[in-house]
Amino acid sequence: MHKESVVLLNKAVADELHAVHQYMYFHFHCDDQGLDLLSTLFKRTAIEEMLHVEKLADRILFLKGEVEMVVGGDVKKIHDVKEMLEMATAMEESSAKDYNKWANECAQNADSVTKQIFESLVVDEERHYAQYDNELDNLGKYGKDYLALQSIERSKLVNVGTPGGGN
Ligand SMILES: [Fe+2]
Ligand SMILES: [Fe+2]
Repeated sequence: MHKESVVLLNKAVADELHAVHQYMYFHFHCDDQGLDLLSTLFKRTAIEEMLHVEKLADRILFLKGEVEMVVGGDVKKIHDVKEMLEMATAMEESSAKDYNKWANECAQNADSVTKQIFESLVVDEERHYAQYDNELDNLGKYGKDYLALQSIERSKLVNVGTPGGGN
């Protein structure tokens, strides 16, 4: 049943798994640099992408297909925050474009439910895009001060939480 949809759903699973790996990698490195706001944003988004995998997998199994669990790309070892955000916005833009296209293909194949799943993913990916793009804007506007401020906030928290610290 709906073999074309299963192929598209598995392509989406691969894309989402790649996003999970890449965003978690960015999360680790932002955390390491003391950038709490960005590290949390990457982690939260990675978790949402994992939930997308689950949504796609549920539909694949309903259609009696196999969930391939292939990761769609290698993790890029980027440590520069601006480059991270540029890559993340590009990934979200490309996912939204693909899912819009695949929703239309599902409509042509008379699979309304898979179409709706892709449409719901477009809404989330556009929101992810906007969040990353907003951070990119902040970085452009405030430059290194923006990152320094996040590191200072982290130091304050660490000091307050440490006995004898913060004096
Ligand atoms: Fe996603
Ligand atoms: Fe996304």
